[in-house]
Amino acid sequence: MARHLITSALPYINGIKHLGNMVGSMLPADVYSRYLRQRGHEVLYICATDEHGTPAELAAKEAGQSVAAFCAEQHDKQKAIYEGFGLRFDYFGRSSSRENVELTQRFARKLHENGFIEERAIRQVYSIADERFLPDRYIVGTCPHCGYDKARGDQCENCTRVLDPTDLIEARSAISGSGELEVRETKHLFLLQSKLQHEVERWIDESSAEWPTLASSIARKWLTEGLQDRAITRDLDWGVPVPADVWPELAADGKVFYVWFDAPIEYIGATKEWSDQAPDERDYTSWWYEADDVRYTEFMAKDNVPFHSVMFPATQIGTREPWKKVDFLKAFNWLNYYGGKFSTSQRRGIFTDAALELLPADYWRYFLIANAPESDDTSFTWELFSSSVNKDLADTLGNFVNRVLSFSRKRFGDDVPAGAEAGAAEQKLGEEIAGLLAEYEGHMEALQFRKAAASLRALWSAGNSYLEEKAPWLEIKTDKDAAALTLRTAMNLIHLYSVVSEPFIPASAQVMRGAFSLENDTAQWVSPEEAKALASVPAGTPFTVPPVLFAKISEDDLESYRERFGGDDEA
Ligand code: 2FM
Ligand code: ZN
Repeated sequence: MARHLITSALPYINGIKHLGNMVGSMLPADVYSRYLRQRGHEVLYICATDEHGTPAELAAKEAGQSVAAFCAEQHDKQKAIYEGFGLRFDYFGRSSSRENVELTQRFARKLHENGFIEERAIRQVYSIADERFLPDRYIVGTCPHCGYDKARGDQCENCTRVLDPTDLIEARSAISGSGELEVRETKHLFLLQSKLQHEVERWIDESSAEWPTLASSIARKWLTEGLQDRAITRDLDWGVPVPADVWPELAADGKVFYVWFDAPIEYIGATKEWSDQAPDERDYTSWWYEADDVRYTEFMAKDNVPFHSVMFPATQIGTREPWKKVDFLKAFNWLNYYGGKFSTSQRRGIFTDAALELLPADYWRYFLIANAPESDDTSFTWELFSSSVNKDLADTLGNFVNRVLSFSRKRFGDDVPAGAEAGAAEQKLGEEIAGLLAEYEGHMEALQFRKAAASLRALWSAGNSYLEEKAPWLEIKTDKDAAALTLRTAMNLIHLYSVVSEPFIPASAQVMRGAFSLENDTAQWVSPEEAKALASVPAGTPFTVPPVLFAKISEDDLESYRERFGGDDEA
């Protein structure tokens, strides 16, 4: 059994996330972690809120709160929503924690000792209207590479290229919209990434062979453009302070580290927050430092790839310390809303809080993973969502479960019926199930979520075909034992489904498993070979019939969702 470290990109603190954020990071990481845990691996799944930077500062200002109070409140809100989605983090931390402050300063000290940080006087954009230096992402303008007219000073959302604010054409303040900007001189720390280019390249050559093309191609593109030295400090009141022992002047000036410098370090910081809670049992260094036995998988959307594939590894390499670097980087394209962008600022699309108010988490989890934007951008539409819920969850899975259990109870009482010995049909079914399960495992191991969802669906369908073929409601008229065998077999399928569906729909899986009074029953994985026998629920096991697992989405519901959230007309 292996040790798996899993992280998903840290959600910004500045507001409730939408479904696009969820499907590109936390949800697939949860699905994968659950799967690995079921298979008996040791898993540590870490996430946190990303609390520094201008977005936090501005959102707090808008809310009329101190940044600290705003972040504390928003952290709790996001945490509650993720619990509602069934995300089972081992720890959900905060990048503003003491642990992260200390680690970030330690990283900076080491980089400095090794000659990778330099103090430079730079000329920075100052907004006269706003009376402040403008952080890169609060300068907007036209991207010099692709012509996108809402490019930010740090990165163009459209072509993903990293930018310097002075590259922008027709730059203006994102706060006031004022174009009255001037350049003033101020001192900052620079990370000398150019000196690390060759080492990062070598590391990528060695490590990225099995990454999805989406991730490795973005990393390559960045390297081809050449690693630039980057300013890693900012003029903000909120952030990790520059350590005064090394840079007294900058510290006195109130400079803090750039949010993208401290955010990835929070993966380690949050692990330390976790281990600081139970220092006798946990040790964050065993996951992060000289941790060659750990396999580290990261989940993120494509705009985060440059920072994780190049910049953070460069930071780690530059410390000359044996920090764990990513082994597998799973990247996602965008989930769109009717072909247009989900937008936090314009509140377009579906936000995670609203989603949970509408329907149980499993509906969303299943739909999102089954339609994950892996090889391309994909679009959320209410039509696609409802057809997928109605067909796959309500008809194929839910109906099977209820039909089998209610019919058996009606005809045979409250225990799994004994009946005939398994015959040719059951053997054929067992083989089919074993084959599909092996396929499913293969896709999960390869982190191919859409394909995994398709295999899971095929497993559910196999049960339906078997039931249609055997038709126990007809068998019962002529051969009660045959009908009992069919139902017992179908109940074993339900139990198997509860195990293998758990990563996707954990709450419903638990209800399915809970229908059977089996002693010491767990969600522990079943191998294809074991599954073949379809015999984990023996005759005589008491069972109950759970309430309908998935309610269908009606035309009326659909209409009201379209009205409330906007449909195609707004694309
Ligand atoms: O893009 C984002 O939402 C960032 N908050 C992701 C940070 S990931 C990590 F590096 F912290
Ligand atoms: Zn661009």
